[in-house]
This record gives sequence, C-alpha cells and structure tokens, in this order.
Amino acid sequence: MATTYRVGSNDNGNGALLAGAVGFGLGLAASAGRKAAVQAITAAAGDWFDGLKAEHKLAMGIIETLEKTTEAEPKKRAMILTSLEHALGKHAVQEEDVIYCALRALGDVADADALGHDHNAKVKQGLYDLEQIDKTSPAWAARLQQLKADIQAHVAEEENVVFPRLRDKLSADENRKLTGRMNREGFKVA
Ligand SMILES: [Fe+2]
Ligand SMILES: [Fe+2]
Repeated sequence: MATTYRVGSNDNGNGALLAGAVGFGLGLAASAGRKAAVQAITAAAGDWFDGLKAEHKLAMGIIETLEKTTEAEPKKRAMILTSLEHALGKHAVQEEDVIYCALRALGDVADADALGHDHNAKVKQGLYDLEQIDKTSPAWAARLQQLKADIQAHVAEEENVVFPRLRDKLSADENRKLTGRMNREGFKVA
C-alpha cells in the first residue's frame, strides 16, 4: 500500500504527486519478480535470436488457444486476447527498439522498415480489430485467421531470412551484447 507524505499545508498538490510516485515505486518493486519471471522465459532460451524464436512459439500457442474458443465464450476470448496483446507488445518493443535498430545500424534499412511496418499495419491493427469486432460473431474468428496468417509470414521472414543474416554479421561478443540489451528492454515492459 502506498504511504501518503504531506509536504506542508500549502504544497499545491505536490504531496499527492509524491504519494503517487512512491506508490508507483512500490508497485514497480512488487512487480519486479513477475517481470523477471516473464523475461526469464526469453533469456533462458539462449541468445537474442533463440529468445525471439521462443516468443514466436509462445504467441502462436496463445493464438491456437484462441482458435479453440467459440462464439459462446466472448469473455474467454477477451481474456486470452489480453495475454496475446501483452506477449506481442513486449516482443515488438524488443524487436523495434533493439533488433531492428541494429539492422539499420548495419545498413539493412529496408528489412528493418518492412518488418516495422508489419508490426503496425498487420499485427497492431489485427489486435485492434479483434478488440473492436463482436466476439460472438463469425467475423471475429475470420479476423483471427487473417492475423495468424500475417504473423506466420512475418515470423518466417524474421526466422529464415533477416535474423540469421544479422546474427552471422555480428561477432560473438556483439551478439552477446545485443542479447543483454534486448533482455533489458524486454524486462522494462514485461
Ligand atoms: Fe517482428
Ligand atoms: Fe518477431
């Protein structure tokens, strides 16, 4: 529970702000264990590429769980959709803020931009649509199938073409540093 600190009688609301900040800090400490546990799944898989592959598998598993739901289970669909959004959100931060930047730094701007565009136009749009569409209508399952196909194509491009090339271009030390950097960014949003 957050502790309220009074900063004098005429603090113009700073006391409330401070209490909020302290509460936020306590919240961060409490969630650090959960965040570490979430990121550990990625980190334990191996280097940055192995970690991302493990996350692709995890996301696909959540999508398959969603596919098994029916139009009579809108609440279940909403709940599972939230975990998919969380998993893909963290995944996108790691790729967009670290891996795609490393690609650009090595001159592969076209692939970095194309993959980033997929995240916005295909993945984030798909998740948004699944939030909007009535979860008891057939249109919802159809939109899920489209998102699944889009993600499969994007993942194939990353795993079979772009990421192996990036890993090969970097030295063992550079790959190790990239892995550390990616896991730190992932932890922030885990
Ligand atoms: Fe991606
Ligand atoms: Fe990915």
